[in-house]
Amino acid sequence: MIDNKNLLLRNLWYYALPSCLLKPGKMVARIFLGEPVLLMRSQDGKVSAVRDICPHRAVPLSCGRFDGQEVECCYHGWRFDPAGHCVTIPSLLPEQDTDLSRFDVQSYPIHETQGNIWIYMSDGDKSQANASEMEVPIVPGFAAEQQPQLVEVMRFPCFIDHAVTGLMDPAHSPYVHRVWWWRSGELHEEVKQFDPSPYGFTVRRHKLSENMENMSRLYWLVGGGIPEVEISFRLPGVRIEEITFGKHRLCNLTAVTPISDTETEVNFVLYGMPSWLTVFKPLIHVLARKFLGQDRAVVEKQQIGLKYEPVLRLIKDSDMQAQWYYQLKREFARATSEKREFINPVKSVLLRWFA
Ligand code: FES
Ligand SMILES: [Fe+2]
Repeated sequence: MIDNKNLLLRNLWYYALPSCLLKPGKMVARIFLGEPVLLMRSQDGKVSAVRDICPHRAVPLSCGRFDGQEVECCYHGWRFDPAGHCVTIPSLLPEQDTDLSRFDVQSYPIHETQGNIWIYMSDGDKSQANASEMEVPIVPGFAAEQQPQLVEVMRFPCFIDHAVTGLMDPAHSPYVHRVWWWRSGELHEEVKQFDPSPYGFTVRRHKLSENMENMSRLYWLVGGGIPEVEISFRLPGVRIEEITFGKHRLCNLTAVTPISDTETEVNFVLYGMPSWLTVFKPLIHVLARKFLGQDRAVVEKQQIGLKYEPVLRLIKDSDMQAQWYYQLKREFARATSEKREFINPVKSVLLRWFA
């Protein structure tokens, strides 16, 4: 029996960093799933990642220097290349013939596309082989070189599950996001068709909800068409939303990465903003930050109650996506441990709720 409590999935691609936060010749230290990771971008633009602990006496490599090719530990100057190979130990005499490969640091598979850096967090065995089997999440219809027009990164003070289920929860909007430009205060019935999709599920394309009439009007004003939305979710916590209005196609990707059992990073990136709309970018940025901040504020309050480890009572149909998330996680963990193919537990279904 796989227990969901603080279960962190392995053998998956996690969102590491928006590309724009890692410049050529620079390094960035992060913690993913409780592991210290050093991300580096070489002068020629290639991103690599290694464990951020010197194998000699455990000083973080990020405390040292990166010259765009090798990282040098600040304590005794051991040097490592981007693949994690130990290439220099300055205190060794030439005749002290030592096999430097004994001091390599662990490296992580990295995939950079569409202005996003993804990292493959394995469970230790044959990580490189597994990484090639599992696809990196892609925002459909945009080239690999496409950079997002808006990037927002926010830390949520909670375990990944509460960030994911909070962000996909359809019933919280009237209470958490009560702002005029988003929606009115009244509740309306929502009916949506869901289908299984790779490692998750998709809300079939539909017109923007009645209760978001203000948002709809805004889209209509800027694009001259009634907006339609399709949203897909996949493990470990990646949500891609595609909004079409008039001849425009606006896409956003929200990816959630666990830092520890009590901290989660939420990354939000946006593509496809019509060029004339980019003048409003600072305003859109403020609004996106406010919106995500509202989700964070309520999750922060939730931590007060969660300390007492209450049983959470999920209902139908508005909590169905949260229930699927837990089922998907359990099935993924089981399939990985039994070394068999993942079987998607989600079935096509029509869900209805008031929101
Ligand atoms: S601790 Fe890094 S070189 Fe000694
Ligand atoms: Fe929300």
